[in-house]
Amino acid sequence: MPERSPRGSLERGLCKGGGSRGKHGFPRARPRARAGKRLILGLETSCDETAAAVVTDSGEILANVVSSQAELHAKYGGVVPEVASRRHLELVTPVLREALDEAGVGLDRVERIAVTQGPGLIGALLVGLSAAKALAWARRLPLAPVNHLHGHVASLFLRPDPLEPPFLCLLASGGHTLLLDVQEHGGFAVLGTTLDDAAGEAFDKGARLLGLGYPGGAAIDRLTREGDPEAFAFPIARVPGLDFSFSGLKTALLYKVRELGANELERRRADLAASYQRAIVGALVERAEVAAEQIGAGRIAVVGGVAANSELRAALPGAALAPLELCTDNAAMIASAGRYVEVIPFARYLALDAYASTAA
Ligand code: KG4
Ligand code: ZN
Repeated sequence: MPERSPRGSLERGLCKGGGSRGKHGFPRARPRARAGKRLILGLETSCDETAAAVVTDSGEILANVVSSQAELHAKYGGVVPEVASRRHLELVTPVLREALDEAGVGLDRVERIAVTQGPGLIGALLVGLSAAKALAWARRLPLAPVNHLHGHVASLFLRPDPLEPPFLCLLASGGHTLLLDVQEHGGFAVLGTTLDDAAGEAFDKGARLLGLGYPGGAAIDRLTREGDPEAFAFPIARVPGLDFSFSGLKTALLYKVRELGANELERRRADLAASYQRAIVGALVERAEVAAEQIGAGRIAVVGGVAANSELRAALPGAALAPLELCTDNAAMIASAGRYVEVIPFARYLALDAYASTAA
């Protein structure tokens, strides 16, 4: 699972994703909610992003606000669940307000609330779920409980370039590495998963060994540009079927770092990062291609935080890639998935519980 930051002031903590910023950081002309459009309010608090979004039922993002807690957890080297829950509690209301403001709508325009029910950190999930229930109950609205993984897949169903199933989806994040057979908008079948660490976790642990801080995926990605990916030969685990394994790779890096010693590590850090990233990306690409072939999928799609990785994006030129701002956790993807799940009618959701993990 991932990371992110508290920021000193609330204002700085609210960074906007999806529908709010243009490519160069300038405010983009906002798609205004035209009267009559049916709106979904999405909420995501499964790990350390407090996020709220407003999406139309045709998949247009009107607002996508993400407040990250990365800096808050960085000093612990990973997400501290109790700290994350408390921060979600502080941020959930202002983030929701910000999303509605940005979309230029009031709650009266919302026709459904979509919220991450699981998997994730249970205390963190409960904050979002309770907020969603309270809002839905107060406005007599239905509630759409969303599986976080379905949310990542549904990041592909948003405008301006919605992807139509069927396709093979590689979901690579801090908590999961999955190969999914997506035949319809409303669900998927799991073809393969990691037997130990997730790909994002491998990036984060590798970054820590290289002294790049936490979270480390983006830091390794950046440093790799200065390094030689062929400088070191790291092993790619060959596990049977369509599963992955990354723990051996992490151990190989640990031994290499020890063998090199502090001075040499300093000198070879970029080469190590590049070689390590090459091994992770190689494993992901190889398995995704085999899986696509096995199920006869005409298209490969990539979602999740690791989908932001530049080498992975370049390695799959024909693939449908989640837009960068929708790779890491956000609520636009949850609202998007909320369009395809069975909603729970008013008041029946009051006893609904969150779940930390799925049986899959
Ligand atoms: O999807 P996400 O925000 O959270 C989960 O649902 O787990 O993914 C976060 C993960 C972290 O492990 C982070 O290091 C990784 O995505 N990540 C990257 C990059 N940007 C984020 N990994 C590799 N390259 C990147 N550019
Ligand atoms: Zn995620």
